[in-house]
Amino acid sequence: MARIYLDHAATTPPDPRVLEAMWPFYTTFWGNPSSIYLEGQEARRALDAARKLVADLLGATPKEVTFTSGGTEADNAAIRGAALAQRALGRGQHIITTRVEHHAVLHTVEQLEREGFSATYLSVDADGVVDLDDLEAAVTPETTVVSIMAANNEVGTIQPVAEAARIVKARNPRAVVHTDAVQAAGALDITPSLLGVELLSLAAHKFYGPKGIGVLYIKNRTPWQPMFLGGSQEKERRAGTENVAGIVGLATAMKLAWDERDARSAHVAALRDRLLFELPERIPDTVITGPIDPARRLPNNFSCCFRNVEGESVLLALDMADVAASSGSACTTGALEPSHVLTAMGIDSDLAHASLRLTLGASNTTADIDRVLDVLPEIVARLRSLAGPA
Ligand SMILES: Cc1ncc(COP(=O)(O)O)c(C=O)c1O
Repeated sequence: MARIYLDHAATTPPDPRVLEAMWPFYTTFWGNPSSIYLEGQEARRALDAARKLVADLLGATPKEVTFTSGGTEADNAAIRGAALAQRALGRGQHIITTRVEHHAVLHTVEQLEREGFSATYLSVDADGVVDLDDLEAAVTPETTVVSIMAANNEVGTIQPVAEAARIVKARNPRAVVHTDAVQAAGALDITPSLLGVELLSLAAHKFYGPKGIGVLYIKNRTPWQPMFLGGSQEKERRAGTENVAGIVGLATAMKLAWDERDARSAHVAALRDRLLFELPERIPDTVITGPIDPARRLPNNFSCCFRNVEGESVLLALDMADVAASSGSACTTGALEPSHVLTAMGIDSDLAHASLRLTLGASNTTADIDRVLDVLPEIVARLRSLAGPA
């Protein structure tokens, strides 16, 4: 039986059109874009064209686009770069973020705390939405960086980033706002000027591009300093020979994702809604995590917890049934910490251990969902009977 891949939030299969666009940059135009001879200049042209395309898709200028090694680097560089630059300008050292961010953000802020910054971690409601009153109360004249993700990777909750940015600016116009749009890209309109953010992170492998390549958007005149030092690549914002094939792949994947956004979203949302509404009917004691309102979560995200089962056992059983799924948390080892996202949403630790995330993609079909709706109730029932009475 063919495998069913339902973990598109972890990564997506590269689109063949993307691979085709990348291949010449490994085989023919492999020169270093910093070289002045023909081979270098061919690579430079491709790099410039890719940057222009990415900038156009973001409603930005090419100078505002810096290529990174992915979402993690973009998040680290955004927050660290702005926090250190703002501190050097004597503007303060208070950072605000939320309790449900990806660890690429949380661990960066925690590291900055060890370096003398102070931080506020905003709470979220039961759906995982940040409280804007709390945000307003948290912004002080000392606040320099605010980082709020566009959409959550575990439960798909969409955050009110534009409203949050307005609130921050009203309280402190010099504070810089960052959004981690790694999961939202390709699903939502993440145009930085519409969101009102100065910094925004993307990763190509979440929208059918290659792994190991991302974008950090930095609005002109934003106080920011680079993390990587060395050559003068990326206008001295990110030293190191550019990953030309990856950058071409990212730009190609981004153009396709932006052009096909509505069709792709409608396709996955229809499949996702079946899971959202049919799975709880078939499996008793299923708790949907994240907003039940489909419009308030990413169109491809379904997530839930099952009472009285171990989440990892469900994943292993699904894998045996040829379904690739995830618990939604980054933990993969035996002694699991419950997900910080679910805990922040008020879900108790036992229930949080039994989480399942199914994230859909372009190649999924109605038949895939039929199969999940068929096998999952059996799996959960079997595991519950093995565990004995609750
Ligand atoms: C919301 C979010 N931010 C950041 C990252 C990190 O991106 P990358 O794997 O490209 O480093 C991820 C990856 O899953 C993510 O979901």
